[in-house]
Amino acid sequence: MSAGRVWSTRLVVEVLPDAAAIGRRGADLVAADLAAGRLRALGVATGSSPSPVYRELHRRALPGWAGVRLFSLDEYVGLPPGDPRSYAAVVEREVRAPLGVAPEDVHVPDGAAADLDAACRAFEDALTAAGGVDLQVLGIGATGHIGFNEPGSPLDSRTRVVELAERTRRDNARFFDDPSQVPRRALTQGVATIGGARRHLLVASGPGKAEAVRRALEGEVSPGCPASAVRTFTDVTVLLDPAAAALLQRPVRPVRAR
Ligand code: F6R
Repeated sequence: MSAGRVWSTRLVVEVLPDAAAIGRRGADLVAADLAAGRLRALGVATGSSPSPVYRELHRRALPGWAGVRLFSLDEYVGLPPGDPRSYAAVVEREVRAPLGVAPEDVHVPDGAAADLDAACRAFEDALTAAGGVDLQVLGIGATGHIGFNEPGSPLDSRTRVVELAERTRRDNARFFDDPSQVPRRALTQGVATIGGARRHLLVASGPGKAEAVRRALEGEVSPGCPASAVRTFTDVTVLLDPAAAALLQRPVRPVRAR
């Protein structure tokens, strides 16, 4: 793949004033699909970036969530089932319970499974059986990861066990009492698994994401920056605050805040 080429049928980058505005705009996109009956499966990222989107969706109290399936991007390996820091617990707290999705419609790779490879296969099977994800919400790591696909992840990768980058462990230490408690491994949807969704919504804010955003949108499309694969996805909306967009060279569409 040559540097800088855009393969996506549609890739829109919008810069909004702050994370709250990103939350409102992101919620608009999710809500439009929900209202149109196009949201049978929502792919959910966890972490700080998408939280304003989920909070805004909750605030709007939209009808239609019953029957929508949720597919999580990733899960830590080795946290006990029910651990509040697990991504299964985050999806429960921030997305499933507030929005009113049925518990049986939530799919998170099982990081506590005795056979992790089998857990990855079971997750892929559930995704296939559901007919894939209609809209995938993504954050981006400072390493350039999407899901937990750290640099070096093949662009054709599927759901699998991965080692977390030390930078990612440091960044996520804020959710743990002690940095040493951050798991070293995770299960993550692969880059190609993520790319199988019909539409993607990537959200990022803050100066710590600026370099990763620049590499993802303007650097080489390569495993060195797994998030660069979004430029090969079909229909992508990227919502950034000014700090996360600060290193982009190409002009992006300014968006008036609501
Ligand atoms: C989490 C995930 C990760 C995060 C990324 C950014 O499910 O898939 O890729 O989106 O690490 O995390 P925050 O938003 O906390 O900076």
